[in-house]
Amino acid sequence: MNNFTFYNLVKILFGKGTISKTGTEIPQGAKILLTYGGGSIFKNGVYDQVKESVKDFEVLEFGGIEPNPHYETLMKAVEIAKNEKIDFLLSVGGGSVLDGTKFIAAAVYHQGNDPWDILANRAPVEKALPIGAVLTLPATGSEMNGGAVITRVEIQEKLVFGSDLVMPKFSVLDPEVIFSLPDRQVANGIVDAFVHVTEQYLTYPVNSPIQDRFAESIMQTLIEEGPKVLANRTDYDSAANFMWSATMALNGLIGVGVPQDWATHMIGHELTAFHGIDHGRTLCIVLPGIMKVFADQKKEKIIQLGERVFKVQGRTDEQKIENTISAVVYFFESVGVPTRLPEYGVPAETIDRICARFEKRGYKIGEKANIGPKEIRMILEDRL
Ligand code: NZQ
Ligand code: ZN
Repeated sequence: MNNFTFYNLVKILFGKGTISKTGTEIPQGAKILLTYGGGSIFKNGVYDQVKESVKDFEVLEFGGIEPNPHYETLMKAVEIAKNEKIDFLLSVGGGSVLDGTKFIAAAVYHQGNDPWDILANRAPVEKALPIGAVLTLPATGSEMNGGAVITRVEIQEKLVFGSDLVMPKFSVLDPEVIFSLPDRQVANGIVDAFVHVTEQYLTYPVNSPIQDRFAESIMQTLIEEGPKVLANRTDYDSAANFMWSATMALNGLIGVGVPQDWATHMIGHELTAFHGIDHGRTLCIVLPGIMKVFADQKKEKIIQLGERVFKVQGRTDEQKIENTISAVVYFFESVGVPTRLPEYGVPAETIDRICARFEKRGYKIGEKANIGPKEIRMILEDRL
């Protein structure tokens, strides 16, 4: 196992009825900016529960944060936060609202011309407004990590930043929020969480049985409970298990002391940037390609995934690998997510555009930093 430092101070309030406790976690007298998305919180009662809980605070609201939150929109909230001297941000929504809120929190204190530098040039985050989250969609793990992904529409770029300073002070996870989710968002959440695990697991062995078995238990739970949530949206127990799986998949725990890949995400972000494909769906396109092209490098862990999680059999290693890739593809498709580029209307020219971007960036990705434009072409051409 590799050396590591693990630090996660996000307080989790989990379970039915916990949204009513939101206000008790916010410092008294704070002036709050409540951030939200396209309005789902008004239809499912989450807004009313939150408002009741923070009724003793001064609360301003900023809505309209899009899925794959836009820098252009978020900068308007940064202005409001500065002008109104906001001292607490309360994110009420899915990963996009929360990621957007993390960017607002950091951008408010950014010294320099343009907070886009935090994303494009890794400008350090030195200070941030405190954030609380009421999560309405289990998927990203953003509720218990310091990462955020922001899109700048005018240049079709989708970039990541991370800082401990934007980790939520608390996150409220009430599984009943799942009851109002459409099938598509449930499926996106299941596969996003699953691929967060593979990014931290499907690399090479470093003798880390604890992390491996935590990872396998999360994947197994997603495979068992995800379809139950899809079949019956008001099955509270399955909703709770799904929600906690998604948080555990990306709160840092399973990634300590092990190599991490993240190439599926990095390539997937480009598919969202160019074609607006939902984040989770991009991952289901890319991962099978990576497993095929890097089957040799990832051999031991692919076989372990197959045998332990999907109960795959085979006479040779090659057969086991092939069967594991088929099992992963079958799982994605069984929850309703297509896995090939043409199914999303993506033309072959997009592969050229993505490779050109990685060529320009000049660095390689993956657990061995050996995935560059040539390999990305092979991965994506496999998905045509
Ligand atoms: O905007 P509203 O009206 O709220 O509707 C949303 C949105 O249309 C809707 N929704 C959310 N909760 C709902 C609901 N509809 C009904 N009932 C509810 N309870 O769902 C739609 C999608 O929401 P979004 O927040 O975009 O989805 P998700 O949580 O999957 O977030 C995706 C974003 O997170 C980033 C992705 O790149 C993408 O931009 N990620 C963030 C990560 C992180 N911070 O660690 C890691 C991930 O890998 C991911 O990259
Ligand atoms: Zn993801």
